[in-house]
Amino acid sequence: MNIDRIGLIAGKKEINSEDLRYLLTLSGEDMKRLFEISAAIKKEYVGNVVYYRGLIEYSNRCSKNCYYCGVRVGMKQLHRYKLSDEEVLEAAKFAWQKRYGSIVIQGGERADKGQVANITRLLQKIHQETNNELHITLSLGEQSEETFRIWKENGAHRYLLRIEASNEELYRKLHPQDEHHSFAKRIKSLEALKKLGYQVGSGVMIGLPFQTIDDLVQDLLFLKEFDIDMNGMGPYIEHEGTPLYKYRHLLMSKDERLALSLKMVASLRILMKDVNIAATTAMQTLAPDGREQALAVGANVVMPNLTPVKYRKDYQLYEDKPCLDEEAEQCASCLENRIRSIGNEVGYGQWGDSRHYTSKNS
Ligand code: 5AD
Ligand code: SF4
Ligand code: FES
Repeated sequence: MNIDRIGLIAGKKEINSEDLRYLLTLSGEDMKRLFEISAAIKKEYVGNVVYYRGLIEYSNRCSKNCYYCGVRVGMKQLHRYKLSDEEVLEAAKFAWQKRYGSIVIQGGERADKGQVANITRLLQKIHQETNNELHITLSLGEQSEETFRIWKENGAHRYLLRIEASNEELYRKLHPQDEHHSFAKRIKSLEALKKLGYQVGSGVMIGLPFQTIDDLVQDLLFLKEFDIDMNGMGPYIEHEGTPLYKYRHLLMSKDERLALSLKMVASLRILMKDVNIAATTAMQTLAPDGREQALAVGANVVMPNLTPVKYRKDYQLYEDKPCLDEEAEQCASCLENRIRSIGNEVGYGQWGDSRHYTSKNS
């Protein structure tokens, strides 16, 4: 009976909130069946190919104070860093030589002129030194439309900006109440990115304090409604020293958070069949094979960390972040084995653009 219902939902044209609530509350054999169906949809729509995005954690300097994050302004003890151009270029060239196809430059949110100029210059240099063969994703927070335009003109193809929580009331509980952390501004940024023709990625945190299943249902519908091309979402991981830590007694167990995160990935794959979905590092924090589990139920992107090892301890958005001591070279071979272990292959030398985006724009 239940088994039929999951298949029926997967085949529906208009999946509604009741369907999604049903999928997110499955357990045991029914949950396994959901994962089989989402895996089959992945294979059919995007193939069993995993695309790499070499992750460069450019800087932990951030002007914001999000209540959940380990690099928020309020973390006064934290050593703040910014990679030199040479360090960024070295990481980008590593990705290029290893035929990763694309990189992500991620960092705290800063909107000053220096930041705009730094990123513009880096985009130019990376393209020059890698023969224009890498696709570049930026993940640097909210910016003005003008800044987004400049970066796009200088060769940024994609942008990741998580909505974090699409329920404005919940969003407010996770951020200070000031104009720097406004929900409206976040939406405006996402709209500007779409208008400028970026491949746009968004996503949420799963298992936050105060979050309900209905919030997650609405998150999935938000991503669909906004028509995102890429998704990155993962479990919320508490970080001591952040304001949200005092609510840790409200959290689900780590196993429950992982299961719910996997159900979110599987449900999004069923809801938006041809988008790119990342198996996020936070999944691996909850289980050593957390990312592979996400790939097995529908994700098709991973982000091997290329940040020089000496900076990694300073970019801990959450606790127990994996691969703190592994050099890029070590992660590369470790990851490939992990991907093969679940019967997928790595899409070397391919940009791995979101099919959702390419079919919209063809
Ligand atoms: N747990 C999980 N994810 C987090 N992020 C920030 N802090 C945490 C945390 N404690 C995520 C946010 C942000 C991304 C860069 O990292 O979703 O968008
Ligand atoms: Fe800054 Fe992003 Fe952390 Fe918020 S989540 S404090 S914007 S790095
Ligand atoms: Fe970093 Fe395995 S992915 S060590």
